[in-house]
Amino acid sequence: MWAELLPVGRFDASGGYRRHAWTAADAECRAWFQQQAADRGLAYELDRNGNQWAWYGDPTADGAIVTGSHLDSVPDGGAFDGPLGVVSSFAALDALRERGFAPVRPLAITNFVDEEGARFGVACVGSRLSAGVLTKDQAFALRDADGVGLPDAMEAAGQDPSALGKDGERLSRIAAYVELHVEQGRFLAETPHPVGVASAIWPHGRWRFDFHGEANHAGTTRLDDRRDPMLSYANTVLAARKKARLRGALATFGKVSVEPNGTNAIASLVRGWLDSRAADEATLTALVEEIATAAVERAERDGVRAEVVRESYTPVVDFDAPLRDRLAALLGPGTPVLPTGAGHDAGILSSAIPTAMLFVRNPTGVSHSPSERADEADCLAGTAALADVLEELTCR
Ligand code: GLV
Ligand code: MN
Ligand code: MN
Ligand code: MN
Repeated sequence: MWAELLPVGRFDASGGYRRHAWTAADAECRAWFQQQAADRGLAYELDRNGNQWAWYGDPTADGAIVTGSHLDSVPDGGAFDGPLGVVSSFAALDALRERGFAPVRPLAITNFVDEEGARFGVACVGSRLSAGVLTKDQAFALRDADGVGLPDAMEAAGQDPSALGKDGERLSRIAAYVELHVEQGRFLAETPHPVGVASAIWPHGRWRFDFHGEANHAGTTRLDDRRDPMLSYANTVLAARKKARLRGALATFGKVSVEPNGTNAIASLVRGWLDSRAADEATLTALVEEIATAAVERAERDGVRAEVVRESYTPVVDFDAPLRDRLAALLGPGTPVLPTGAGHDAGILSSAIPTAMLFVRNPTGVSHSPSERADEADCLAGTAALADVLEELTCR
């Protein structure tokens, strides 16, 4: 399964993945998912928001146990973030069927669409819509860098966007959602444990910082006569780093766009996107306010106009404590229980249903990069743990 999925969306043999929502690479992954369902005789469903489901058992019955993850990627992403959770779900189901498990509840495998938000700027679009924390109107307003709207992109990929929105009835039939994911830090790497259980997700969000200056000639405009938004932006990046360190939080400007983007012209507009995360919401709010204030103050000094727009926000997630404890107990004494700063569909869904996550050790901690890794033995240990968890949850 893995070998089949690996080449999809890779921009060259050595680089990372570009599997952005509703693109050709995404369509290939979605076709792959549908084929996996068909090969196993599972009932396949596409929900109103474009999430894919493969059912073992009755899709209409109550008390379903759901597992899965996502197949999309960040720009130049790694092989594991997302696909590991989907591939291991199918593999775990195969293992359970081989050992003749006798579920008393339906079991479903999902591929949530657009988890990374790489194309339209908002992460976890599929699960947010289903949980009702992103509305149809908000989704319809999303545009990619080329100005293509999310509904148009869906339509071009053959998915009807007209019914986007909360899927409360479906979620009400789910008793638990468990997502297996590669760890995106070095917590487990420093332990002898290949698999851990998630305790919480840090609150996080994305903010767009616009710096409006004045385009002018790089060779003839005296430094004192410039209104250079690049200067304001650069100082804001430095301020964000300094202030995040002081608060023990995280602030990243990883995406920037410059107009007109010419070497010999002072920029007229610099637009930078801040991704910020902290252990608690008060710290995150205070940090982002500080960074915004620093941006506005610096822009004033530069004769630049700064504007800050919040594009998305995810509150703190504490995973379902009974489910988390049950998983940790099942995996054995000493199983690490760890928080993460990375967002996941499981976090979004936790507002509606009990959710939990398993993390597979990542030897370097690197993620959202082509050099993301997980050892085969650890992936197999994660899959075995997932199978045990699914058996425990579906058989009683
Ligand atoms: C998604 O992986 C995120 O945490 O940004
Ligand atoms: Mn990711
Ligand atoms: Mn992921
Ligand atoms: Mn994620």
